Amino acid sequence: MSKVLVTGGAGYIGSHMCVELLQAGTDVVVLDNLSNSCAKSLEAVQRITQKKLNFIEGDLRDKSTLAKLFEHNDISAVLHFGGLKAVGESVNNPLSYYDNNVNGTLCLIEAMTNADVKTIVFSSTATVYGVPDTMPITEDFPTNPINPYGQTKLTIEHMLRDLHNSDPGWSISMLRYFNPVGAHPSGEIGENPNGIPNNLMPYLSQVAVGVLPRLQVFGDDYPTHDGTGIRDYIHVVDLVRGHLNALEFLQDNPVLAIHNLGTGTGHSVYEVVEAFEQASGKTIPCEVIERRAGDAAESFADPTKANEELNWRAEYDLHRMCVDSWRWQEMHPRGY
Ligand code: NAD
Ligand code: UD1
Repeated sequence: MSKVLVTGGAGYIGSHMCVELLQAGTDVVVLDNLSNSCAKSLEAVQRITQKKLNFIEGDLRDKSTLAKLFEHNDISAVLHFGGLKAVGESVNNPLSYYDNNVNGTLCLIEAMTNADVKTIVFSSTATVYGVPDTMPITEDFPTNPINPYGQTKLTIEHMLRDLHNSDPGWSISMLRYFNPVGAHPSGEIGENPNGIPNNLMPYLSQVAVGVLPRLQVFGDDYPTHDGTGIRDYIHVVDLVRGHLNALEFLQDNPVLAIHNLGTGTGHSVYEVVEAFEQASGKTIPCEVIERRAGDAAESFADPTKANEELNWRAEYDLHRMCVDSWRWQEMHPRGY
């Protein structure tokens, strides 16, 4: 029976993907080197779904592991989440980002070619757009990433496009995520950052649960309605459901396609804080500090292309994102 390979399946988004796949009746193989995750997430996935998956602990760059994986499993498609994603770390250590992300994807594509598996959904990011002048962002906006992480993602997009040009038999979906947040409603899986979180929602959650003392707001002098940065937050369950639609789309249209995955609605930092306070019943102490280098005033998607072509639409609102983030955090104050 054919299976789907989920690279990076033990991570934040990948583990939610595994739940949706198993619940849809798909057999799942996970490849993850656990460099930014732990196998407990996959135990939780199996508890939630009451189904088993096949976990292979290994690295994308390990060609023999990949060859064996494709030899021993009848894989029909790959959902490729595996890679590194911390912007600041990518500035300090760019080569490990090129190695993990670009070289890792190259090794994966080679192994897929050898196994004649030619369907892939790739986790790209809105970071590839850089800091556009106008909003909302459509897929035809120029790409101009301003950090090495974004460069590696754009390089992979170029590599996949060249591959498709050389062999149109490939079916390739590149999904540009806006700001994934939230957690599975069971509270069993969620975002589990190493050390102090860089991103707003996990940071807020750790303040609310008492692990961190206060939120530092990175600037309140942006040209936005309350002066704080605006982003398009999207519930992780909505996000991974978009991948199921992308897989279906590729079955009907063997093409290379790019889609934004966002809600189309922006929320300011203060709006997120207020929603989180309501969801958790906790007060979040805030301190305004200077802007974070490289941050845009606002970023939000035009998701029309995904709405129409993938027949997909984000369903959960900011309140639900906060409720689910908080449930996960409260049940796991220090992560897994
Ligand atoms: P994550 O770090 O939780 O998950 C990534 C997983 O990949 C981890 O489990 C890690 O151990 C694994 N991994 C890393 N390098 C590997 C390698 N060389 N071989 C095998 N496994 C490897 O991150 P996430 O938030 O779940 O993100 C998943 C994907 O989505 C990433 O590609 C990320 O760049 C992309 N993305 C994430 C966001 C976000 O805000 N979370 C936004 C846009 C795009
Ligand atoms: C960050 C990444 C981006 C990635 C995205 C994924 C950076 C510079 N960019 O973007 O590449 O694709 O996550 O979700 O890291 N904020 C605070 N205090 C905090 C944290 C954040 O005020 O402690 C503000 C930020 O200034 C921003 C908003 O909250 O206005 C959201 O920040 P964050 O969650 O880090 O997401 P992005 O900046 O969109």
